[in-house]
Amino acid sequence: MKGLFCCDFFAYIRQVRIPDFKIDEVRSSSDIVDIIASHVRLKKRGKNFIGLCPFHQEKTPSFAVSAEKQMYHCFGCHKGGNVFTFVMEYEKVSFVEAVRSLAGRAGIVLPTEEIPSGQQTEIEALYNACRFAGLHFYNNLTKTDEGRSALEYFHSRGFSDETIRSFGLGYSSQSWDSLLRKGLEEGISKEQLLKAGLVRSREDGTHYDYFRGRAMFPIFATTGRVIAFGARKMRDDDPLGKYINSPETPIYNKSRVLFGLFHSKDSIRGEDRAYMVEGYADLLSLYQAGVQNVVASSGTALTEDQLLLLARYSKKLNLVYDADSAGSSATLRGVDLALEQDFDVKVIDLPEGDDPDSFVRKHGAKEFRKLAEQAVSFIDFKARQFQKTGAFLTPEGKSDAVRSIVQSIAKMKDELKRNFYIKEVAEKYEIYESVLYRELDRWLSRDRPPRREGAGSQRVPVYDVPLSDVTIPKGGEIPAAERDLLKLLLEGQPDIVDLIFKNLTVEQFADQRAKRLAELLQSRWRDLGEINAVSVLNETDDTDLKGMITDISLSKYELSKGWVDKEIDEPDARQIAADALALLRKRALQKAIEENQRMLKEAAQRGSDKMPFVVRHQELMRQMKESEKA
Ligand code: UTP
Ligand code: MN
Repeated sequence: MKGLFCCDFFAYIRQVRIPDFKIDEVRSSSDIVDIIASHVRLKKRGKNFIGLCPFHQEKTPSFAVSAEKQMYHCFGCHKGGNVFTFVMEYEKVSFVEAVRSLAGRAGIVLPTEEIPSGQQTEIEALYNACRFAGLHFYNNLTKTDEGRSALEYFHSRGFSDETIRSFGLGYSSQSWDSLLRKGLEEGISKEQLLKAGLVRSREDGTHYDYFRGRAMFPIFATTGRVIAFGARKMRDDDPLGKYINSPETPIYNKSRVLFGLFHSKDSIRGEDRAYMVEGYADLLSLYQAGVQNVVASSGTALTEDQLLLLARYSKKLNLVYDADSAGSSATLRGVDLALEQDFDVKVIDLPEGDDPDSFVRKHGAKEFRKLAEQAVSFIDFKARQFQKTGAFLTPEGKSDAVRSIVQSIAKMKDELKRNFYIKEVAEKYEIYESVLYRELDRWLSRDRPPRREGAGSQRVPVYDVPLSDVTIPKGGEIPAAERDLLKLLLEGQPDIVDLIFKNLTVEQFADQRAKRLAELLQSRWRDLGEINAVSVLNETDDTDLKGMITDISLSKYELSKGWVDKEIDEPDARQIAADALALLRKRALQKAIEENQRMLKEAAQRGSDKMPFVVRHQELMRQMKESEKA
């Protein structure tokens, strides 16, 4: 254990030119499938992995990741790249930050030296401000006299030093401007501190720290970056609420974040189940006790974006609530959304008076798991709530209850599942199935028309940070032979690359984009004597070009598609090259023939000598015959 000496989340990232060999080292130590799988649910399909594209909204997977090629490509929105591009796009950071983030993960040490903060993007500057604040709060907690009371407070709540360190807990000093002053000293601008919600302005134009004298809970994006804070009151004379939180900022959209998910995502995927609690403390206590597949809704209703986020890791959701708060719980209001998204939702009932935090501290993880085994379906839970309040005893109460229960059942898309729940509710609560079905039909027909099919595809996808508009580049298909040649070049087999460049000039590419890529590859071949598609991706900022590279790399050879009857798995590169070159040569010949015929006609009209054109025509035709023979 590292004790409280340092907390990795707030390690300073200084910007400096990273030597190429280091970049290569980071790339080869970062497996793209590993990296992407920690954000996207991937399934093995043939040689590749596929999943729902994180860069645009889709229902059927068109996002492919290749372990062999170390690339990804979305056949829907045409975005693609290597492991660096993924981190850049996903985290909205620069290339250098992406390399650093992956280096950190792979344990590779990079040189440090600063570049001026003026060169940071706005998003990076906000991340930086939050990272600074996290470190500042952490140091207050662990290294100052004032922080000792907060450290005692955390300890009194049972949080170990390990938990404090791994969640980067902190303390904001009572002072009005300690964060502001320290921030300015460290080169963080006032504007950034304001934008990050850490500092506020008074009417007279002066500024003050927003969080003062509070126990601080950093909120992490699923990438592990600090994006906001929750702050718990520690003194009775603090006039603000028990918890106050960062405002929404360009990097923090609270309806798109689940507290704790960064820490718990691997465990959620591993166990294929997520426990959902309400509070920060609930999450920390469960996690510390060893129940690590847990997220906190932070006392708000579940949102569709949070569910989409969670669905990357598991679609089994167990809500953990104390009996008293269940009825009024904000989270429960979002549950219908979860049913609609085909989550399997269960509810774990805690004994009266306990919340997950107090329960697990009193009884331990083993008892908690026992309780979890008795989780009931959300529908059953809802019905039981009505039963407890005596609703089934009066006709009005009963119809209210039936309506509410059936409303939730109606959210489920799977008809079999709906029927199952109808049966269960009918039997358990002695209600005629026909009554339930009649109600169900009403909700189903009411629900249908406004189902936002059209709007759905327009919804902004879930990211940890806002994305600039997703553009879907259009443009015609690149001719098959040109695609195949580019694919061969991208594969980089030296004898084949050599063969191609010896038998063709880039001018022969009819498609302008194909020509541009061919030029890029040719200059690499000339300069380095090798072509490595994954590193070519680092050399261009052009998203279209990147998308084209990954598209072609992860697609099959076009010309070999016609070979299916021959059942060839691994098409022969030399054969494809020969076919494609022949096609290009034939096309060039055809063009030359047409051009020659046009000139022949013109010569005839002018009455000048046709002979040279006739001779040339015969020669071109001979070449054409030859190429057809080959
Ligand atoms: P609770 O009131 O249940 O608090 O709020 P808790 O988590 O048990 O807190 P402790 O144990 O007293 O420290 C649940 C969650 O709702 C949000 C917080 O995220 C909290 O963890 N909340 C609560 C607020 O945002 N503001 C508040 O004033 C209260
Ligand atoms: Mn609590």
